[in-house]
Amino acid sequence: MSQLIAPSVLAADFANLQRDVEMINRSEADWFHIDIMDGVFVPNISFGMPVLRDIVKHATKTIDCHLMIVDPDRYVETFAKLGCHILTVHYEACIHLHRTLQLIKSHGMKAGVALNPHTSVHLLTDVIQDIDLVCLMSVNPGFGGQSFIENTYDKITQLKKIIDYKKSDTLIEIDGGVTDNNAKQLVDAGADVLVAGSYVFKSADQEATIKSLRALANS
Ligand code: DX5
Ligand code: ZN
Repeated sequence: MSQLIAPSVLAADFANLQRDVEMINRSEADWFHIDIMDGVFVPNISFGMPVLRDIVKHATKTIDCHLMIVDPDRYVETFAKLGCHILTVHYEACIHLHRTLQLIKSHGMKAGVALNPHTSVHLLTDVIQDIDLVCLMSVNPGFGGQSFIENTYDKITQLKKIIDYKKSDTLIEIDGGVTDNNAKQLVDAGADVLVAGSYVFKSADQEATIKSLRALANS
């Protein structure tokens, strides 16, 4: 499988959202990464269901939705109905993670688990076969444009060992501070999906940036 690029819509121009969604459609990006924040789990509020509905209306690629909210079980059905393909919840926000994962799958979506920078990958050993995607936060969740945390490489290596040991096909996604400076090294360590927000949307030619990031990740 080739390594995938998921531009984070959080960094888009919300006054020109359709334009930016169509840019991602045209580009070599693989997925749309959608960040939902509640102002409780993280100290920021992004956007909610009406905006997601309009993104989905125009998007032609996989919707990878990252929930940074407390008690995500309450909204699993809603996000399924809105058209999400992958629904990622935070380990730190789930008391009964195994139950949450089954709930996500029962609504026809792939189930993802995100880990904050301080959360050990070893906490997922006993549930890894039930997880389609682990999102390793390489910044503290809540904001785009932060600097990449270097310890992430070590976490990828450790997580990859767990996935291989358990003979699972779980994908490893990296979220936060991804640029052309670290993309290749992340993939070499074992990353399958790279989320990139500011690096894509702050560049002069966004489509070209996605193309070169994808080429770098697959070099
Ligand atoms: C942060 C979000 C990220 C964010 C990444 O909480 O989960 O998806 O949009 O943005 P950059 O690529 O700018 O670090
Ligand atoms: Zn995210």
